Amino acid sequence: MKFNRRNFIRSASVLAALSLSEIEALGRTPLATPADGDITDDEQYWASVRQNFPLAKDLAYLNNGTMGPSPYPVIDAVHKGMMEGDMHGGYGGWETTAAKLARFVGADEDEIALTHNVTDGINIACWGYPLKKGDEVILTTHEHVGNAFPWLNRQKLHGIVIKAYTPGATAHETLNNIEALITKKTRVIATPHIPCTQGQVIPVKEICRMAKEKGIFCAIDGAHGPGMLPLDLHDMGCDTYASCCHKWMLGPKGTGFLYVRKELQDTIQTYFVGGGSDMGTWNTATVPITSTGYAHSAHRYYGGTQAAGLYKGVDAAIDFIETIGMENIHRRIKALGKYTQDQLLAIGDKVEMLTPTEDRSRCGVNGFRIKGVAFGDFCNTCSENKVRIRGVGENGLKSLRVSTHIYNTKEEIDRLVELVKKA
Ligand SMILES: Cc1ncc(COP(=O)(O)O)c(C=O)c1O
Repeated sequence: MKFNRRNFIRSASVLAALSLSEIEALGRTPLATPADGDITDDEQYWASVRQNFPLAKDLAYLNNGTMGPSPYPVIDAVHKGMMEGDMHGGYGGWETTAAKLARFVGADEDEIALTHNVTDGINIACWGYPLKKGDEVILTTHEHVGNAFPWLNRQKLHGIVIKAYTPGATAHETLNNIEALITKKTRVIATPHIPCTQGQVIPVKEICRMAKEKGIFCAIDGAHGPGMLPLDLHDMGCDTYASCCHKWMLGPKGTGFLYVRKELQDTIQTYFVGGGSDMGTWNTATVPITSTGYAHSAHRYYGGTQAAGLYKGVDAAIDFIETIGMENIHRRIKALGKYTQDQLLAIGDKVEMLTPTEDRSRCGVNGFRIKGVAFGDFCNTCSENKVRIRGVGENGLKSLRVSTHIYNTKEEIDRLVELVKKA
């Protein structure tokens, strides 16, 4: 049946006859290419971008740091990708995504392993670094369990020593805090690019430079990097960078990647191997059995069947971002983050702002506390008022986190600010 908006409004019975895609089409407008120049404050353009998201209109979703809602083109691509496989029984369909991701993050195709989330990538890297009893690894006091537990697990199993630095109020202070922990035994600095707790942008390029000078590996937890900031991993100089496509990239949930610097692939050992991670030279029917080698790429870090439809969704997410422009998105995210911080600071003493005000150290995430108000209680108040933020219980921080992306509006942020004022 051909869809017609007037028919839809006139007769409720038409609704039952519509397919899901026809119903969804009601709210859609095609993604427009932005005008040249600075579009950071072009509210009309960003309102048109919001039309591309099925995100509920009455919900102020300020929790992109946990999960980035996908726009329609991503959801459609997943559906189409699955249909293609399931209609014709074809195998594969994910092979081109590593190249596309590599270009998006400033790496080479043979440096990208497909994973399912950040945790996968961190575990692969963490297990692969050559560490022995007594070797020291530096984390932060602001870890997510996904970067804390893999290293704590190696501490338990292999006797490595974990130390933790506290991110400073400025990039300079952060660097000093890390340097103060370095000893002759330091082997890895395993820091988040942007901690999940208060979202400050850690000076990872300087950290990588300092680490390299001292012969220390740099393993970055990049959960919040791609899609929030333009990335050039070669320029950053890290050894591994684990991330996902389901937060700031707005891609399908359960997709991610791990970057492993080419020169280190024979040093960072792979343990989880199978189809695709081998050289194809094995044969268990010969006597003696013929062994195989590792793929000459980061494909050595993953094997087996992947979800082709989901990776078609990752391709579509990169296309969506690049239609708007990564620089445009970064500027808009940064502006909304600053707006949030400014509004919260303007409330006065009642708010304890945890995210630095130094411009290079802030972006799309703000962490704060409300004096005299338990963080869990305020999260409940937000839920009751259809505002979604995240409480931060990790590491005893007992704080609140608000994370905003391009689908958010200043009005949605104002709804949160009003709740803080009344708390
Ligand atoms: C800083 C950080 N690291 C790691 C993770 C774990 O991510 P995932 O659930 O994709 O494994 C998160 C998730 O929120 C995070 O914020």
